[in-house]
Amino acid sequence: MADKEGIKIEKNYYTDVPFKTNGNFHVKGAANLDWGMKKHLTNIFNPKSGNTVMFAFDHGYFMGSVSGLERLDILIPQLIDHVDVLMATRGALRTCVKPNFRKGIALRVSAGSSMINEDLSHELVSVDVEEAIRMNADCMAVQTFIGADGQLSSIDNLSKVINAGARYSIPTLGVIAVGKNMERTSQYFKLATRIVAELGAHIVKTYYCDDFEEIAAACPVPIVVAGGKKLAEKEALAMAYKSIQGGARGLDMGRNIFQSHHPVAMADAIGKIVHYKYTDKEAWEFFQEKTKSK
Ligand code: 5RP
Repeated sequence: MADKEGIKIEKNYYTDVPFKTNGNFHVKGAANLDWGMKKHLTNIFNPKSGNTVMFAFDHGYFMGSVSGLERLDILIPQLIDHVDVLMATRGALRTCVKPNFRKGIALRVSAGSSMINEDLSHELVSVDVEEAIRMNADCMAVQTFIGADGQLSSIDNLSKVINAGARYSIPTLGVIAVGKNMERTSQYFKLATRIVAELGAHIVKTYYCDDFEEIAAACPVPIVVAGGKKLAEKEALAMAYKSIQGGARGLDMGRNIFQSHHPVAMADAIGKIVHYKYTDKEAWEFFQEKTKSK
């Protein structure tokens, strides 16, 4: 029987020791994958920095037209050149993004919940792998509810998508979901991120929290950090900086970009932290400079 947190022996995450089995490939845990998988992962993670700025605007799949995303056709073209990856539903991509853009695509492939449900944890796989291929997806994103009522079905969804993606060399992004009554503790995120990575997800999306460096160290694939609810820009940049310092390989931000009065400046400031080693203070100064006269 595996030990329970804190019972058997003290844990050591060796947070100061770099990941050991990366070979000469820039994406954590991907050294042993095939060419096709590596190509898709390279469309997501910049080979120079090893990191990514993903822009999440898939909220409509369960929240409808949230504030800031009322008109995707107006917002998205402004932001495309300022991020590395678009995370979206197939409906949003097809209708509001010109197919000649050259960035990565994280395609939302799970659905089934909505804001009027009490329990959001019951989803299904709504987009099959052939459709993901037609959409040129670089990864397929699946919501995963660990510890929630719908855990079994979400693990089933995740596994089906990973298995289908393996047939065609398309990576899977496991999105750690936090239900209404679930606590955002490091103990929970450590458990959930590790489960999702061991089930075979190639990228894990989670939230920033205390002991983040231990979560990142114990996760054998890259973690991208979700933005969550809108914060003041300065705070959001601090969270982005702490995430990268703690071992995240990118940000997958939505509301903290599209609900800002300056979404382009915000995306650029996040990019400075993610790719150019800016501190949060430097990124905040950059943001202020860019928005000075606007
Ligand atoms: C839902 C998602 C969304 O893409 C994500 O939450 C959106 O990003 P943000 O929280 O930064 O608005 O994965 O679980």
